Amino acid sequence: MNADEGKSPLFAGAPRAPVTFDTHYTMPDRLSDPSLSPIGGVRIGVFDSGVGGLSVLRALRERMPEAELLYVADSGYAPYGEKTDAFVVERSLAIARFLLEQGADLLVVACNTATAAAVHALREAHPSLPIVGIEPGLKPAVALSARGRVGVMATTGTLRSARFRQLVERHGGQAQVHLQPCPGLAAAIETGDLDTPALRELVETFCAPLRAAEVDTVVLGCTHYPFVAPLIAQAMGPAVTLVDTSEAVARQTVRLATARLAGRTPSPHTSPLAGGMRLWSSGDPDRLSSTVHRWLGLEAQASRLP
Ligand code: DGL
Repeated sequence: MNADEGKSPLFAGAPRAPVTFDTHYTMPDRLSDPSLSPIGGVRIGVFDSGVGGLSVLRALRERMPEAELLYVADSGYAPYGEKTDAFVVERSLAIARFLLEQGADLLVVACNTATAAAVHALREAHPSLPIVGIEPGLKPAVALSARGRVGVMATTGTLRSARFRQLVERHGGQAQVHLQPCPGLAAAIETGDLDTPALRELVETFCAPLRAAEVDTVVLGCTHYPFVAPLIAQAMGPAVTLVDTSEAVARQTVRLATARLAGRTPSPHTSPLAGGMRLWSSGDPDRLSSTVHRWLGLEAQASRLP
């Protein structure tokens, strides 16, 4: 088998190579942004229900190569999208505590579902911790849509949340917004196999109603979905733009990390962190290591989340 088989086209190749993607996939101003300057000495805790947050981790790695990244994949408890809010809040608080014990200076909730259910509880529990959440990119999608027809693919948990309803009220404007819950899609991506007939069929099932609604812009409202963006792009057709918010999350993280570092007196005894990465999984750590290797081209041995 060719070594490249099974890799997502999004993440194939060297880890810091510019993303090559279908031209109708939106990855805004990646290389022209001055905030790409390296930030050392900061430790960023990132978590998701599983491997979806690796799409955010990759954007963070590109923008902040000298930051130390700590990543928790809660794969033993995934998918979050079909669980109760109380369950997602409880998991998010437990993982945040763990990441703080590991010395995280800043927390990135690399999961739309966990942001919708738990970011408020996280901020209440840790009022002095900078926290970056992720939410579906409805605002840029409405701005991009020429026909004012936008589709949002996300988990059931995200779409039913009060936070998402407020997002639509604030940024939906005059656009027709078509909501497409995608139960089972994150779980299928979690297996790591990104181009199976079953996965294609699942993507087709969720894209068909959006095609019928004649949307011209589709929001990838779950961090797992960028890994199947090529399948979604194929199912939607070349005239449809896909919007992903992982870049925006990385930019906001750079801003908060810069502010955090500005308030800190550098100690002559501590050397700057050297851009390391540590990984934990509540599922199978070896599977996480191999997914990080295949999708991001990075080598790191994951540990079992205690
Ligand atoms: N990756 C997550 C998100 O962004 C959730 C997937 C899931 O666990 O259901 O919503």
